[in-house]
Amino acid sequence: MTTIKVVSLPGDGIGPEVNGQAVRVLELVCKSAGRNLEVVELPMGGVALDAGDKALPDATRAACVKADAVLLGAVGLPKYDGVPGERRPEKGLLDLRAALGVYANLRPVRSIPALIDSSPLKKDIVDGTDMLVVRELLSGVYFGEPRGIEGSYAFNTMGYHEHEVERVARIAFEAARKRRGLVTSVDKANVLEVSQLWRRVVKQLHEAEYSDVKLEHQYVDSAAMDLIRNPKRFDVVVTSNLFGDILTDAAAVLPGSIGLLASASLGDGPGLFEPIHGSAPDIAGQGIANPLGAIGSVAWMFNTSLGMPEQGAMVEKAIDEVLSQGHRTRDLGGNLSTSEMGDAICQALGRQ
Ligand code: NAD
Ligand code: IPM
Ligand code: MN
Repeated sequence: MTTIKVVSLPGDGIGPEVNGQAVRVLELVCKSAGRNLEVVELPMGGVALDAGDKALPDATRAACVKADAVLLGAVGLPKYDGVPGERRPEKGLLDLRAALGVYANLRPVRSIPALIDSSPLKKDIVDGTDMLVVRELLSGVYFGEPRGIEGSYAFNTMGYHEHEVERVARIAFEAARKRRGLVTSVDKANVLEVSQLWRRVVKQLHEAEYSDVKLEHQYVDSAAMDLIRNPKRFDVVVTSNLFGDILTDAAAVLPGSIGLLASASLGDGPGLFEPIHGSAPDIAGQGIANPLGAIGSVAWMFNTSLGMPEQGAMVEKAIDEVLSQGHRTRDLGGNLSTSEMGDAICQALGRQ
């Protein structure tokens, strides 16, 4: 049987703290499935810059593109705030996404019954929320050229090619077929030409290949309001890079903490799996970060890149179980440390 090769990039701040627990879960589940696993840990982000290298060192890039999957903690350090984009930790992450060709970033958001009181929103609004945000990850204003600062003027370019919209929309339609059959495409077509093209391409693909799925279009400002007012109405949301980044941090409020949110970035090669949160400098080094977003990302790794859905389901079940038993890190009002939450997950897995 082939060995599963995973590159682990702990990164900065709470990245290594949450990633450590995710690797632990990955190892445990592979062992119980009788699979050989090789985890290679490499530097990326501020930790690589601090060592005098690029944010995405060449050796890290080379290992990632050859791996079966990549597991990332988080990148970003306050000391790099104000440093030009090219020399920031975040540039390593953008370069890695591009190197892996991961154009679709899947961010599931669902309310967890045991945590219903952790949400700042009213129970009847949040209860039953279950959506998948499909964020375009390799284009839009994040990558558009030209960009720069010239004297007193700074500029970025938001652009999308038809094929970039089509491939991410396809992921959304396919996902909706396996879920509740609704895709909401979020754009700003009342103002932006980019969104007008986006909307046209999504419509064309829908008519040509996915007319069994219900498609609706919504402006991003209105979608932001519905995310808080009526989140249950969303099934699959597909949107551009920047809108998806913003909407998913807002959506993290629904289950109760950004520390819970997992993600999978997929393309044609190895997938990249990371919690949606950042390096959380305000709590880094204290061992109190919630590792469940990182651990949930391992579930997605099993479900997608590794082709082991049974193991993915085991990890998801363990997360639900520990939460329904009342285990909570600080962000959810409890007092478990990061590693104690990891212990609880490993114990729950051991009982399955
Ligand atoms: P953040 O997500 O790091 O933190 C926002 C808030 O959420 C903070 O109060 C933090 O304590 C809390 N939080 C985040 N993750 C948590 C967890 N697992 N458990 C408990 N609480 C958690 O966002 P930020 O402060 O805007 O960004 C900090 C740095 O991280 C910046 O450098 C940013 O660029 C970077 N960043 C990286 C990624 C990534 O690597 N994928 C994602 C977002 C931000
Ligand atoms: C995320 C982060 C990144 C993004 C940053 C760190 C580049 O906010 O993964 O959500 O904006 O994509
Ligand atoms: Mn973000």
